[in-house]
Amino acid sequence: MSPLELLKSRFAEALAGLADNPAEYLDLIRVSQNPKFGDYQANIAMPLAKKLGQNPRQVAQAMIDKLRWDDILEKPEIAGPGFINLRFKTETLEKGVLQTFRDDRLGVSKIGNPRTYVLDYSAPNAAKPMHVGHIRSTCIGNALNKILRFVGHHVISDSHLGDWGTQFGMIFYGWRHFLDREAYEKNPVEELARLYRLVRQKADADPAVMAEVLNETSKLHHGDAENLELWRSVLPHCRDEINRVYQRLNIEFDYMLGESFYNDRLGPLTEKLRAAGQARESQGALCIFLEGEEVPMLIRKKDGAFLYATTDLATLEYRREEFHPDAILYVVDFRQSLHFQQLFKAARQLGLADEKTELVHVKFGTVLGDDGKAFKTRSGETVGLESLLDEAERRALAVIIANDKEGALSESERLENARVIGIGALLYADLSQNRDSDYVFSFDKMLAMNGNTATYMQYAFARIRSIFTKGNVDPQELRRRAADGSAPLLLREPAERALALELLKFSDAVYSVLKDYRPNMLTSYLFDLAGCYSAFFEKCPVLKAETDEIKTGRLLLCDRTAETIRLGLSLLGIGTVEKM
Ligand code: ARG
Repeated sequence: MSPLELLKSRFAEALAGLADNPAEYLDLIRVSQNPKFGDYQANIAMPLAKKLGQNPRQVAQAMIDKLRWDDILEKPEIAGPGFINLRFKTETLEKGVLQTFRDDRLGVSKIGNPRTYVLDYSAPNAAKPMHVGHIRSTCIGNALNKILRFVGHHVISDSHLGDWGTQFGMIFYGWRHFLDREAYEKNPVEELARLYRLVRQKADADPAVMAEVLNETSKLHHGDAENLELWRSVLPHCRDEINRVYQRLNIEFDYMLGESFYNDRLGPLTEKLRAAGQARESQGALCIFLEGEEVPMLIRKKDGAFLYATTDLATLEYRREEFHPDAILYVVDFRQSLHFQQLFKAARQLGLADEKTELVHVKFGTVLGDDGKAFKTRSGETVGLESLLDEAERRALAVIIANDKEGALSESERLENARVIGIGALLYADLSQNRDSDYVFSFDKMLAMNGNTATYMQYAFARIRSIFTKGNVDPQELRRRAADGSAPLLLREPAERALALELLKFSDAVYSVLKDYRPNMLTSYLFDLAGCYSAFFEKCPVLKAETDEIKTGRLLLCDRTAETIRLGLSLLGIGTVEKM
């Protein structure tokens, strides 16, 4: 049961004769800012009264008169100009929490009208090392993927690899002039990365080299046998490297088609658009002129080369034919905003996406270093993602060893914990930010035991687990009893009641992520939940509770808190450990 959904359905009934369109008012039921005034507050009367030309307090009263409340709520109260304060009966909350033991979704309902989503995220560029920027797309996309699926949507995930761009021209040029064959045989990806960096520097400094690089790229695109052969031989190494990172992050994709997959579609698509008059030549280049926009979208250069935009149009065409999506989400850096604005506009204009298909650029800001500039190594290079994962695990291990003075963990447990905690810290630090903002990367902050971090959440989880171990309570057994009604839950203390209410808000937190595709809505919830739990734990002894009945009730709250943290983190792609 989501308390908010319950209230909304009751108010929808109550509004039936009062408002023409009750649905538009339901979002005005909100969590109370101050628990003194109740659990929730309905701020509907003021706008409705305005519309009806009546007195808001009278409208509030009329709503209450029609509201079915006495089975679930204390008597609603009107405050100020017409706010309605709503407070659940304690019994409602008790029932709600007990209800969560009867399914394995912790009260999160399944969506009534599932949609098909194509989720385009991660999408690193092959042959260029993955860097810290890719962590954002990868972990935000992964969290959205898990949450969409969990609530029941159909999701197709695709890491749209940049496997066809100029970076291959760089590699080919480097291959012909600077290849260290022995190094390549030993570690192909490292050697390719070296070649890429070397040529990139040279091309930036010397237009003649850049021209060669572009020529190599163009040869590849036009089917030059030698370059194609070389491309085929190096690409698997690049894919292996990317897959290795995905494995470490425990991430899987349905597809990794990559830009190259669409190569054969670019010619026919641009021709079709030209023939239909939807694209026109301008100074030798082929362009789509977008309604109301000054700058056209370039889809074929004068020299015949296709662009990033062309591939994205072809990708849209393919996805529409293949997957019939209701929505396509692109989790990509905000710097590509203009590209996606144009792409979406073009897609509608060309009929590649109809009005019903939701197209969203789920954009995010930059990862910064201490100096407030884009996060770089000391030598000014972008920071490779793998080295960050290594470092996160190394630091997590140090924290684990420092905390485990009694040697409760075996060597292999320590290493496994270091993986879960290190990588969890990295992911959570990213996900807990408002995605539009830049954020400062800091290992110390992300691994802190206090504050809004994965480490804090994982620690809370492990501590709750340890209560069960210490008290010799089998959680499975307890859950079974709660499900069949033989384990009572009585909320007597305010801190117990507050924790129960918070637990029941989990469903809303999960759905709130999907409103605007913001995983930080869920991290904020988890952090609040952990806060409620701490307050409860401070006031309410669990194993030493006065009676068995009280103890059982408190253990139930402990178990739900741990499980909500576990499920919440797992929806964010983050694991938990039993002992910490
Ligand atoms: N490979 C691109 C990059 O690293 C991101 C691709 C995003 N997806 C897309 N369909 N354009 O910047």
